[in-house]
Amino acid sequence: MIQKCLFPAAGYGTRFLPATKALPKEMLPILTKPLIHYGVEEALEAKMDTMAFITGRGKRALEDYFDISYELEHQIEGSSKESLLDEIRELMEKCTFTYARQNKMLGLGDAILKGKPLVGDEPFGVILADDLCLNEDGFGVMKQMARVYEKYRCPIIAVMEVPKDEVSKYGIIEGDVINSDLISISNMIEKPQPNEVSSNLAIIGRYILTPDIFDIIENTKPGKNGEVQITDALLTQSKNSMVLAYKFKGLRFDCGSIDGYVEATNYMYKKKFENV
Ligand code: G1P
Repeated sequence: MIQKCLFPAAGYGTRFLPATKALPKEMLPILTKPLIHYGVEEALEAKMDTMAFITGRGKRALEDYFDISYELEHQIEGSSKESLLDEIRELMEKCTFTYARQNKMLGLGDAILKGKPLVGDEPFGVILADDLCLNEDGFGVMKQMARVYEKYRCPIIAVMEVPKDEVSKYGIIEGDVINSDLISISNMIEKPQPNEVSSNLAIIGRYILTPDIFDIIENTKPGKNGEVQITDALLTQSKNSMVLAYKFKGLRFDCGSIDGYVEATNYMYKKKFENV
């Protein structure tokens, strides 16, 4: 069973400035819960109970969110508002939270490498909380992936089809079809131009990685945008052993963009208040 889930959360969230000047983008709420809360719930559903955060400057709100706020709790104790804290209290009881900082923005690969002391020598999940994934009809995406991992015991990357003219926003994978959900990866490119790839299968912010990835990242040179890319490290790994792409079931909202964030908010609002 995979116990730990890494949450790279050091990025600036510039698309949401000025809001993200003093607020981590992972703390932006969809209705009443911040994005990070949904990510932790998803990991917990997959039986991962140790949440390892990679934070950076200006991200202390994340640590405070998963801690007791004595003044607030004292104020609302015994009142009708107290139940509003039930969900976060439940998460806090069930999980352990650990933290490491990335002090230079050197890319997602580097952020994941900063998690090495928190993760140790075990397979682990990775959730990018600004990709909000929901599956009303069944298991959440991380749990779906944990099940695939149990069977294949190799790194698993969540993918979905995107319009061809949007491939340059994502890491794109190519490979051999194993079945309707799984592809054995033979190539992956971070944010390619449409003419550089034959596929439109985009990486979404959910990974199950094995600990040998840390050494590979250490030897991965900066790639796209001068950053150390997890996509490049996984490509190296896929040359020596199997790396699988998994077409997950469910919806994904790109909450790192204003459009996706508003879509997610509308979707959740309808679900909660209009029973759609
Ligand atoms: C990261 C990954 C990219 C992936 C994307 C999913 O990019 O590098 O491969 O497709 O997350 O959201 P970012 O969006 O952080 O630039």
